[in-house]
Amino acid sequence: MSFGKAVKIGMLGMGTVGGGVAQIIERNGELLAGKTDINLTLQRVLVRDPSRRRAVDLPPQTYTTDPDVVIRDPAISVVVELMGGIEPARTLISAALKENKDVVTANKDLMAQHGRELLQLARRCGRNIYYEASAGGGIPLVRPLKHCLVANRIKCIIGIINGTTNYILTRMSCDDMDFQEALARAQKLGFAEADPSSDIEGRDAAYKLAILAGIAFNCPVDPGELSIEGIKNVTRADIHYARELGYTIKLLAIGEEKPGGLVLRVHPALVSLAHPLASVHDEFNALFIEGDLIGEAMFYGRGAGALPTASAVVADIIDAVRSYERADKGLYANNLGKTKLLPVSVLNSRFYVRFLAQDRPGVFGALATVFGDEGVSLDMIIQKRKKNGIAEIVLVTHDVSEERFNRSLEKALRLPSIQPDAGVFRVLA
Ligand code: NAP
Ligand code: HSE
Repeated sequence: MSFGKAVKIGMLGMGTVGGGVAQIIERNGELLAGKTDINLTLQRVLVRDPSRRRAVDLPPQTYTTDPDVVIRDPAISVVVELMGGIEPARTLISAALKENKDVVTANKDLMAQHGRELLQLARRCGRNIYYEASAGGGIPLVRPLKHCLVANRIKCIIGIINGTTNYILTRMSCDDMDFQEALARAQKLGFAEADPSSDIEGRDAAYKLAILAGIAFNCPVDPGELSIEGIKNVTRADIHYARELGYTIKLLAIGEEKPGGLVLRVHPALVSLAHPLASVHDEFNALFIEGDLIGEAMFYGRGAGALPTASAVVADIIDAVRSYERADKGLYANNLGKTKLLPVSVLNSRFYVRFLAQDRPGVFGALATVFGDEGVSLDMIIQKRKKNGIAEIVLVTHDVSEERFNRSLEKALRLPSIQPDAGVFRVLA
């Protein structure tokens, strides 16, 4: 049985997320039609290899390798871009808008780097671009920030917004799993990007932060200006020491208002086990928001994977069909260019440092003196003997300026008894 207004969709790409969209239409199409009076059909789908087995068996003539067949089909009113990457996605989205189609995308790389230009083009064409799935997978973040929290002055957003790295850190922490094995599992489960270095090196989280901060702080954000550090340097030893000290290690994306501007950064950090973000595990994501009216709020859910992400994509398709957000001004509102991005060096933070040192008298004292001479106060200390006359010394500082901390770290690493490669992470306040 089918009912509701028939709406034909064109899809560019049918991999993990596109396969999820096809499954939702197959599995929940009637439910959706009952709720929305809209009956979705996948009319044409662009892929590279039409002979590949897909999550859902669509009629073979649905697939094409010619983008024009999707974009220029007059029966299609919404084009869903799920190919990923910048080109040809950018050109095809522009062409779809010019063909008078609304566009839905999950592409954070594209929306973070070219979202402004594409949203302006959409406005000129009288169409819209919907991109809820581009940040936070299945969790509603774009809509709440744009609509529900619009009356708030947002003071900070702190997110775990990359499912792959959160999955890896969780498995390393809970199962003592090796980094490479955890990554391979995240890839198999469909969480990782086609090029997983974007996840591991923090770029994926930075793109999402650029999108969310653009909305939350109402300013254009160039992801190229963000301070980005991935999880490559997080070892199992750091995870164990962090736990001993009452913390877990998470890859955080943080945007906060400071006097004179905004600081936007992605880096691993120690998070107190008492903080709500500490209990966000596996591919789950969460965004912690502090607004002047709402106070603290947290959004939590699955940030990656076929069905959770496709759930947000399908909701965007329905929104597009309903023209719900016709008056939406998109990512960027009126006060373009008024917010200055400040470097991370303006911040005061607590730091965790793990040194490898010669296990002999005076070494610990020499370290403490270096930090003390720079006025860096130490909060917690662990020293453990390892094999072959080497000891591991772990310090956590009190709040200190980045500049002062870096100066003392440099001096400490020059001490003859200290090995030159320390593990260094910030501690979330
Ligand atoms: P994917 O599994 O790699 O799928 C990409 C699809 O696009 C494939 O069907 C591929 O065709 C097609 N494609 C790529 N380049 C093409 C080209 N030049 N011409 C024709 N077809 C092309 O990617 P995905 O994981 O679904 O991700 C899609 C988008 O969603 C990305 O922007 C990603 O960042 C975003 N996203 C993903 C997730 C997730 O959990 N995976 C979550 C949120 C957002 P073939 O199948 O024939 O190779
Ligand atoms: N690779 C991304 C992640 C997919 O792991 O979070 C969801 O955007």
